[in-house]
Amino acid sequence: MNIYTFKNEADFNATGASLIASLLHTKPRAVLGLATGSTPVGIYGRLIEMYQQGLVSFAKASSYNLDEYVGLPEGHSESYRTFMNEKLFNHIDIQLENTHVPNGNAADLEEECVKYDAMLEQNGPVDLQILGIGHNGHIGFNEPDDSLDGGTHVAELQEKTRTANARFFPSLDDVPKHAITMGVGSILKAKQILLLVRGEDKAEIVKRALKGPITTQCPASLLQCHPNVVVLLDQGAGRLLG
Ligand code: PGA
Repeated sequence: MNIYTFKNEADFNATGASLIASLLHTKPRAVLGLATGSTPVGIYGRLIEMYQQGLVSFAKASSYNLDEYVGLPEGHSESYRTFMNEKLFNHIDIQLENTHVPNGNAADLEEECVKYDAMLEQNGPVDLQILGIGHNGHIGFNEPDDSLDGGTHVAELQEKTRTANARFFPSLDDVPKHAITMGVGSILKAKQILLLVRGEDKAEIVKRALKGPITTQCPASLLQCHPNVVVLLDQGAGRLLG
């Protein structure tokens, strides 16, 4: 695991964007595993700039997002499909039909999960998976539990997660209670993982995830088992690593 800590946001974003751009240079048909949340936004912004400057192309790439809320109407401002379109896809040359986000409005959610895994199986493995981490150690919406699902599944969101995400909704009641998420097994199949964490409030969980015991009670700790993880932290998030 390679851990890098950054003093300033511009360097954090430039490093994350360069990793993705380098992959696309060596492998234009790369399969990207993408994440939402506030942390990757600056990296997506930097990638848009690089695309506009002719420094990177996504024309042949494809992408699979980690998760999507269940039940938000299509086009809802907080759906992860809308997020990805607005923060990245609408501003680069990726073919929209090559971008995949689970359908949280599928009539049969279980079938949607099976279909998502089948696509990942057929088109994967993911070359580079971007991840954030929740205060409770979740990755995607894989919440701490006695056991974890390997594949894509419908997850019930913990109160801690709903409260953290309430900042994006009018009230806590508006935050969906369920989401479709790739499982920890699917995430760990990626060839490389890029974990992004910013903020002092994440310092405790970063320490637990990266240096603590490997346990399903901290899903991000399973990343310790992966052979190729790059971690980008700001100083706040890295403050307890020593
Ligand atoms: P954040 O979310 O990037 O907004 O901190 C990460 C997560 O909860 O998975």
